[in-house]
Amino acid sequence: MVQYTQETYLYDPNVLLKLDFHRSPAKFQPFISAANPGESWLRVRPLKDTDYDRGFLQLLSQLTNVGNITRTQFLTRFSQMKASGDYYVTVIEDTRKGEIIGAASLIIERKFIHNCAVRGRLEDVVVNDTYRGKQLGKLIVVTVSLLAEYLGCYKMSLDCKDKLIKFYESLGYVLIPGNSNSMTIRYDEDTPTLKRNSTSAATGAAGDAYQTVVVIMPFKSTFIK
Ligand SMILES: CC(C)(COP(=O)(O)OP(=O)(O)OC[C@H]1O[C@@H](n2cnc3c(N)ncnc32)[C@H](O)[C@@H]1OP(=O)(O)O)[C@@H](O)C(=O)NCCC(=O)NCCS
Repeated sequence: MVQYTQETYLYDPNVLLKLDFHRSPAKFQPFISAANPGESWLRVRPLKDTDYDRGFLQLLSQLTNVGNITRTQFLTRFSQMKASGDYYVTVIEDTRKGEIIGAASLIIERKFIHNCAVRGRLEDVVVNDTYRGKQLGKLIVVTVSLLAEYLGCYKMSLDCKDKLIKFYESLGYVLIPGNSNSMTIRYDEDTPTLKRNSTSAATGAAGDAYQTVVVIMPFKSTFIK
């Protein structure tokens, strides 16, 4: 592994220690949180610029196609996200191996509506397949959901396959009747034009239907203006 003298976090890691996991409807058994993830070798933290060497992109490839991203491309995107201040890519590290084993992203969207409100979008949720079923999916999703509330978002939403609706519902997300459709138009170079008008444009590669699930924050803080 490459040795680094200095590492940069995408955002301030201390903010994760302030999150109150008792606010989440998620049932953790045993109780865990971002500050105390249950094992001394687990760490919940912001993405670092050095995570290129900790298998972050390999983890994302368990979610979708990632491509052959060079270190330079990774660092450029990391810098852009950090400069914007609206990207909260959060990871779980197995510190025994120096490996990223879970990830979820909160993206802050700034609005004019609702008095220049901010809302959150939950993206790119994944846990390494050898670590699944140990509450880490819940842990990473609850972490970024509480972070969204802490940052002043009035709501947070996500798109997911039907089979994951129950998972997200257990974490406080709801399908809003009449307003939970997810629609897509794809611009990938290799996507045939025909596909845009076919049913596969509104479903996943395997034909799974997607739904939009939303959590409305119980209160707003004034952290982001
Ligand atoms: C979805 C995912 C993040 C869950 O991670 P995990 O660490 O296994 O989740 P947890 O151990 O915290 O499980 C939480 C609950 O969700 C359920 N669950 C987890 N994955 C599920 C799945 N794929 N389908 C249905 N239920 C699932 C578990 O049974 C568990 O239920 P319980 O609390 O009643 O026991 C993980 O399966 C994953 O990375 N999948 C591939 C990528 C993906 O689909 N990401 C989501 C994109 S929206």
